[in-house]
Amino acid sequence: MTDIDMRPPLADIQTEEDVAKLVYTFYDKVRADELLGPVFDQAIADWGPHLDIMCNFWSTMLLYSGKYKGDPMSKHLTLPIAPNHFSQWLSLFNGTVDALFQGEIADNAKARAKNIARIMQSMLGFPPGNNN
Ligand code: HEM
Repeated sequence: MTDIDMRPPLADIQTEEDVAKLVYTFYDKVRADELLGPVFDQAIADWGPHLDIMCNFWSTMLLYSGKYKGDPMSKHLTLPIAPNHFSQWLSLFNGTVDALFQGEIADNAKARAKNIARIMQSMLGFPPGNNN
């Protein structure tokens, strides 16, 4: 038996619908996650607006739509989080991207997430160099 991947190639992230699919699938996993779920449940009373914000955020990051005008950094300063939350967040995010999309913009999504997570961790005073 050879180990050939028979799945059809995946498309890249191209439209607002693609962004919404990424965001909704990712937050389904986040909410079900033992480590991350409680942090989000504690902070977010109404998921509808949060998911809209996150669609606007990623559409701005990946499709340059300019829909997001907020400040992601400050929102994370008071959350009960440690470096392992970031590892888990990135692992779920990368897994979601890879399961749904393939290409330059998908790669960009993972690179942007990693970069922002690194900046957030440094703002929180976490040591650099945990394997994110
Ligand atoms: C430890 C990992 C993370 C956790 C537990 C987390 C949790 C949260 C929570 C609970 C909120 C809602 C805060 C509120 O409305 O009061 C939020 C908002 C947000 N998060 Fe994260 N987050 C994490 C990492 C990230 C990363 C890596 C990014 C970017 C790639 C990100 C982007 C955002 C954005 C854009 C918002 C919306 C801010 C706004 O309201 O304008 N988060 N996050």
